[in-house]
Amino acid sequence: MTNFRAYRIVETAPGKYDRKIVEQNINNLPEGNVLIKVAYAGLNYKDALSSAGHRGITKEFPHTPGVDASGVVAQSNSILFQEGDQVLVTGYDLGMNTDGGFGEYIRVPAEWVVPLPATFDLRSAMILGTAGFTAALALYKMEMAGQTPQMGELVVTGATGGVGSMAISIFSKAGYDVIASSGKKSAYDYLKKLGAVRCEGRKFCNDEKKRPVARPKWAGGLDTVGGNTLTSLMASCGKNGSIAVCGLVGSPELNATVYPFLLNGINLIGVESAETPMEIRIKLWNKLSSIWKPEHLDEIATDISLDQLDKYILKILDGKTQGRIVVKHGS
Ligand SMILES: NC(=O)c1ccc[n+]([C@@H]2O[C@H](COP(=O)([O-])OP(=O)(O)OC[C@H]3O[C@@H](n4cnc5c(N)ncnc54)[C@H](OP(=O)(O)O)[C@@H]3O)[C@@H](O)[C@H]2O)c1
Repeated sequence: MTNFRAYRIVETAPGKYDRKIVEQNINNLPEGNVLIKVAYAGLNYKDALSSAGHRGITKEFPHTPGVDASGVVAQSNSILFQEGDQVLVTGYDLGMNTDGGFGEYIRVPAEWVVPLPATFDLRSAMILGTAGFTAALALYKMEMAGQTPQMGELVVTGATGGVGSMAISIFSKAGYDVIASSGKKSAYDYLKKLGAVRCEGRKFCNDEKKRPVARPKWAGGLDTVGGNTLTSLMASCGKNGSIAVCGLVGSPELNATVYPFLLNGINLIGVESAETPMEIRIKLWNKLSSIWKPEHLDEIATDISLDQLDKYILKILDGKTQGRIVVKHGS
């Protein structure tokens, strides 16, 4: 009967949520054939939404968020994993409606579990987490659509965020010149260290004149912001370039015309990381641990304990975090 600590969201009255660290028991974890003692979790924007009671992410409370977890297999009824294996889980239903990485234990189906790639430890895997995996998936899909470094610069919006920071690091490692678009001027040195060739403010990617097609400013890009920023990325994308869209921190709206498609042959690429099939997942983790391995993981990470989560959840909701927030369990 193992007890463990978990950061739990409880609905105290309709629409009112209390967030606290409570003691849980492994017998109350959801069904699944792999029990994992979690060493590290990552904090994502999605976790903050779940913690705030966003029903589009989590339908039932009480709940333990945390879409990313790395740790050691404590029990396994699957031939794929043995006790003591180092593993990671990102996405699927973890932290959404299945208790997630903000608890010291998770229990999940073996089909969600990825063996820890040889060149990562449990912490560095969580510095990447869903953010790094999403940036890699975006690049993979853009390259499938024909993007190459020779076509020119890629732009990344929300550059100091988790996905943005990882994208700059991964894209530059893959040979691309990257423009970082950020609202934090004070973070330009950080962004350049990660590999950005230059930094621009948010306005650079937000055409107030709302031109359907404008002078090309990039050869492709990854957008985490949505709304007019996404429309602007499409409008100023060079011939046959790809704009990958993964986020909506600014707006879920997309008001665009067909002109960028008809006149410049651009591709608009959707990125959905959570349900990525295992075959592609393994392929991307292999790239992330070799030719796309980010070089500045320590600069990207802020390490926190479970007790500090509250503060960082509020910060991420406010767009005030930088890089990846990594939650270390235990002492
Ligand atoms: N589709 C998928 O599979 C997938 C996977 C992971 C994440 N996501 C989504 O991607 C987005 C980013 O996630 P994240 O974890 O990287 O979040 P994050 O760490 O909070 O980063 C978001 C960044 O966006 C910028 N930003 C914040 N509010 C903004 C606003 N109102 N207007 C313009 N820029 C703003 C800020 O960067 P600057 O200050 O540098 O501009 C902020 O650091 C979220 O919408 C998340 O849900 C999707």
